[in-house]
Formats: sequence, C-alpha cells, structure tokens
Amino acid sequence: MRVDRVLAMRVGVLTGGGDCPGLNAVIRAVVRKGVQQHGFEFIGFRDGWKGPIEGLTQPLDVAAVRGILPRGGTILGSSRTNPFKVEGGVDAIKKTLAVEGVDALVAIGGEDTLGVASRLHEEGVHVVGVPKTIDNDLNGTDYTFGFDTAVQIATDALDRLHTTAESHHRVLVVEVMGRHAGWIALHSGIAGGANAILIPEMPFDVDEVCAWVERRFERHYSPIIVVAEGATPKEGSMSLSSGEVDAFGHVRLGGIGDALARVIEERTGKEARVSVLGHIQRGGTPTAYDRWLATRFGLYAVDAVKDGAWGQMVALRGTAIELVPLAEAVGTLKTVTPELYREAEVFFGT
Ligand code: F6P
Repeated sequence: MRVDRVLAMRVGVLTGGGDCPGLNAVIRAVVRKGVQQHGFEFIGFRDGWKGPIEGLTQPLDVAAVRGILPRGGTILGSSRTNPFKVEGGVDAIKKTLAVEGVDALVAIGGEDTLGVASRLHEEGVHVVGVPKTIDNDLNGTDYTFGFDTAVQIATDALDRLHTTAESHHRVLVVEVMGRHAGWIALHSGIAGGANAILIPEMPFDVDEVCAWVERRFERHYSPIIVVAEGATPKEGSMSLSSGEVDAFGHVRLGGIGDALARVIEERTGKEARVSVLGHIQRGGTPTAYDRWLATRFGLYAVDAVKDGAWGQMVALRGTAIELVPLAEAVGTLKTVTPELYREAEVFFGT
C-alpha cells in the first residue's frame, strides 16, 4: 500500500450544526485515507466549534472509526456554538490548536459551521470544509449527504399516509424539514405522490390549497399535502414559532402544518390531520447514496489537507468531486427555482 509520509501532519476533525446521516462515513474516510495513505495523525474535537473553544477532544484513529459507516449521528457530537458570538472564542480556538499541535482542521457542517470555517481561514487557520445538511441548501455543491436519507424517510411516510388517508377520507398534511429551502418537500412530494407541495421559496395561496383539496375529493381520493416547515401563506405569516433563536440567529420553527390543517378544516369542512416528521428525518442509518457521497467527500477532503488547499470545500459537481472556495459556498443559500417547482404542479389537486 502507498503511504506518503512527506508531511507528518496532525489533523483535527469536527462536526457542527444539526446532525445528519453520513457524518460518520465522512469521519471514517478522512481517518482511513489520512492514516493509511498520508501518514497523518488525527484528533477529534467534541461538539462542533465548542470543542476547539473549550479544548474538548477525543482520540481519533483507525480503531475509533471501525464499524461507524452505517451509523447515524456523529461519534464526535455536534452543537450550534458560534465562536464569533463567544467572548474570546476565536483566540481560544487558535490556542487549542497550538496546544494540541494541530496543523489543520477538517470542519464538517452546513452554512453556519462552514461560515465560521471561512472566517477562520481569513484569520489564518488551516481549514478544509465538508458540506453536510439534510436540507440540501448549501451553495457550490449539487447535493449534500443526508438529503437522500431524509427524502427517503419522508417518502416512506407519504406512502404509509396515503393508505390511512384513503381509509378515513381525510386530508393528511405532512410537515417536513426545510427552514429556507423546500428541497426535501419537493423531492419527497414528487416521489411520494403528494397532491400539493408547499415550500418556503413560493408563498402559497390558502384558498388555492383548499380548492386542490376539494378537487381531489371530487375524484374520490384523499389529498396528501407536503409542507416544508418554513413555508408561509401569501397573505401573511401563518408559521408558528417558539420565538427562541440559536447562536446563529435562527428562529426555532414548527407549527405551519397544524395551522394549515386547521384552516383547511374550517374552509372545506373536511377532516384534516397532521404528521410532523421532525428529527426522524435526521436520525438513523444513511442510505447507500449518502454513504457513497459522504465517503467520497471524506477521501477528497483529506487529500485537500495534504495539498494545503486551505479555505476550500469539497463539492459534488455532476459525478465529480471538486474544490470550491468556502467563501463562495456560504454566501447565499441554494433554493428551489420556480421552474423546478412548476414541474410538480401538474399533480396538485389531481
Ligand atoms: O439545518 C438542518 C435542519 O434540519 C433544519 O431543516 C431544521 O430547521 C433544523 O435543522 C432544526 O434543527 P434543531 O432542532 O436541531 O435545531
């Protein structure tokens, strides 16, 4: 086996933000290739950026990553800690890296975690990013791992909800994740034969949704409506939230499904029930596609470390894995285009 022992680097790995199926597959690929081919040593940082701020570490070698490929979650833990919101957070990170003798960091995360990575890169920290999010809303990459698993879970739920909706002649509203982008709603809604798909990018007309419901019943079928948690009605905000915000300023969402079902019942007189899939979409074993994508991301990320490609993120373009600047990936979110949304409209209310 080839081993490039040109640089005996010590590399830190962390996972930040909401967890996502496939994180462990990335960690495994980074460590396996890093140790076996590049002669690197690794150290795990616990709970996202909290780890290097507070010096929370865990051993990370080949033995530590055995058996984790199919496991959901992350063996390193995660958090939404933002070092730029913690007094002395950035200096604490630099100090921990120096104390632990860490030459480079692999940061695995979404918009927020990689946004921090991009700013740390500007401050001279050697960092390479790996994109993750079940929401698939990160720019610069065609897909993020975790998305396929979330879509599969939501599609399985839709398949099951069709039969119970039909038995009881009810409307079934299914709320899926997607704070700013409707990718999970769109893909699972198409795959699961939804009769309406409501996404954050396209504010919906409640009367039109009610008309779709009635039309579907006229055809003697029960309507299934998929709504992303961040979707809003045209005439104002119907989305309920707890008002709490996290360290990146995101409001905790939830409640649009309930609110929509209530309005549908009032306006159509049809019984409507809600299923909120919530964190079920993020838990458990990754699909084969997500394991494949996450593994390839890990292999290329550790090569980027070897090449000193600091401030870069691995990305899927077509079937190739490429490097894109972190700054480009985190500037704006990748959202569903009106053209893509319109493809699904033929199924609405029919
Ligand atoms: O960012 C991914 C995501 O799954 C969003 O779709 C969702 O709004 C959010 O995480 C909720 O995460 P948590 O409950 O862990 O804060």
